Amino acid sequence: MIKIVTIIGARPQIIKAAALSRAIKNRFSNSISEIIVHTGQHYDENMSQVFFDELGIPAPNYNLNTGSGTHGKQTASMISGIEEILLQEIPQAIVLYGDTNSTLAGAIAASKIHVPVIHIEAGLRSFNKSMPEEINRIMCDHVSTLLFSPTKTGFQNLVNEGFNPKSSKPYGADNPKIYHSGDVMYDNSLHFSDLAEKKTAVISKNKLEKGRFILATIHRNNNTDEPIRLNALFSALYKISEQHQLDVLLPLHPRTAKLLEYNLDQELHQKIKGSKHFKIIQPVSFLEMIALEKNCKIVMTDSGGVQKEAFYFEKPCVILRPETEWVELVECGAAIITDANEQKIIDAFSALTSKSGMKFPKLYGDGKAAEFICGEIIENIHSNTN
Ligand code: UD1
Ligand code: UDP
Repeated sequence: MIKIVTIIGARPQIIKAAALSRAIKNRFSNSISEIIVHTGQHYDENMSQVFFDELGIPAPNYNLNTGSGTHGKQTASMISGIEEILLQEIPQAIVLYGDTNSTLAGAIAASKIHVPVIHIEAGLRSFNKSMPEEINRIMCDHVSTLLFSPTKTGFQNLVNEGFNPKSSKPYGADNPKIYHSGDVMYDNSLHFSDLAEKKTAVISKNKLEKGRFILATIHRNNNTDEPIRLNALFSALYKISEQHQLDVLLPLHPRTAKLLEYNLDQELHQKIKGSKHFKIIQPVSFLEMIALEKNCKIVMTDSGGVQKEAFYFEKPCVILRPETEWVELVECGAAIITDANEQKIIDAFSALTSKSGMKFPKLYGDGKAAEFICGEIIENIHSNTN
């Protein structure tokens, strides 16, 4: 039996971990046992517990209850909590997802005490180190033993950084193995798509017309913390909704909700509050989010996960960031990068909503990335019996 410790903490990691936990439960329970550690980075009911209830994820074995804080304080507290658990559990590997501070903490804690690191969503790069996530993912990749990249581009980024695509067993931190595995989020989108049909009440509850609303999310730190950017984003969304008489549904991340009060221009804020088209709501559950993605006209987002889900459900996407790690979305014409530039956002909306024959090729695997990853873990991580 291979014992793994899985670290989750932020909303998208809880969702990603559902795919691997499901694969372990359904196919690999004789070979892999999973201990789940929630760092407590996200803690509101609608940022954490809702996903466990809905996606059938086992309750965490440990919760570090770290909560919010500066990067240093938050990460340091998680490192010491994770280290303690690793020393107690003595797992054969740690599994880390994505690029949050919880990922970085897991990578530092495990690598220092020689627990092999398995990084899921490896190799993604924005080439922008002002993003905290870019630092987290680079650091995590470079102490990992098994690196699973969801895309060809991610795999190539690792090769460009010196990873040997032809390394051979036995693998370790000094001789890592890199894979192009497909995306566990694609596994989830396929798996939960039908179930999400039962959650369409979120559409009627918010008085939305199917196919005639914009689904927006905004939470990236540079967008929320810089008033000029935040105002440009909200102003663009407001103008589009007014000009096209189109509803905008914005399930708002708590970070953005808090900063709106300080960083959004008062006059614009009042206009948005008075608008019958601009609907700001609390974060929704994953199944509700899928229902919204499947039924909207277009997605406008700075989220990594939501960009891809738009693509999975064949919706165009305006990317409210200066760059994306998911470059394929832009290359195939399904998404446009606008940064927080008001006019570019308005133009991209027009371009994408008037475009016909948009293509959504299968770029992110076959929906079985989690099973592939489990197979490779069994093949390449030593169990506690040998
Ligand atoms: C984090 C990740 C980001 C990811 C995002 C997913 C890092 C550096 N960033 O950003 O990569 O895209 O999660 O959503 O790890 N807050 C609450 N309740 C919560 C959680 C957060 O109110 O349950 C508020 C707090 O004011 C907190 C702020 O949101 O200070 C930011 O939370 P934090 O986890 O530090 O970063 P995110 O912006 O959520
Ligand atoms: N999501 C959700 N409810 C929401 C907003 C997002 O369930 O109100 C899901 C979304 O479907 C995707 C994931 O959260 O699976 C993306 O997380 P987020 O945007 O917070 O982080 P990122 O992907 O940018 O790291």
